[in-house]
Amino acid sequence: MHYRPMTLEDYHAAVALWQQTPGVRLRDADSFEGITRYLSRNPGLSFIAEQDGEIIGTIMAGHDGHRGFIQHLAVAERHRKQGVGTALVERCLNALRGEGIDKAHLMLLTDNESGKRFWKRLGWQFRTDIELHSFVLSDSPSA
Ligand SMILES: CC(C)(COP(=O)(O)OP(=O)(O)OC[C@H]1O[C@@H](n2cnc3c(N)ncnc32)[C@H](O)[C@@H]1OP(=O)(O)O)[C@@H](O)C(=O)NCCC(=O)NCCS
Repeated sequence: MHYRPMTLEDYHAAVALWQQTPGVRLRDADSFEGITRYLSRNPGLSFIAEQDGEIIGTIMAGHDGHRGFIQHLAVAERHRKQGVGTALVERCLNALRGEGIDKAHLMLLTDNESGKRFWKRLGWQFRTDIELHSFVLSDSPSA
């Protein structure tokens, strides 16, 4: 398994993986333009797992100078339970640490029970003391 930072050239293969992965929800922000903006604002923080030239895992991270945010962790089903997801998370957290970030957050769909187990095992804490509130700034139904 080969791990490396994600680049824009990975976009189409990454989207294909995300589209096959329940647990990853795609929005307008995941368009080519959206991911271009994300990667250019957060260089070196998103990673790919690759085997024989095929992208089989992704993770994306960014930060606002204060907190890190993780998204789009996905591993192709036939490559799961071999430590790929854990290795991707480690790379992301090390990259965030290297930017001076000392806490990261992620959003998990409430019905993603295996995702909850995965993050708990890695030491992530489920928060009950905060609520996520969102506001849509555009008129797109999939913003
Ligand atoms: C969550 C996800 C990324 C995990 O990927 P993965 O590559 O299977 O992750 P790992 O192999 O590191 O760990 C998965 C499990 O396999 C186990 N495992 C790891 N290496 C193993 C091995 N060699 N043999 C047997 N089991 C192993 C781990 O203990 C872990 O168990 P747990 O999740 O019940 O705690 C993957 O299941 C996925 O893509 N899910 C759908 C998308 C999703 O839910 N993403 C998270 C939302 S942010």
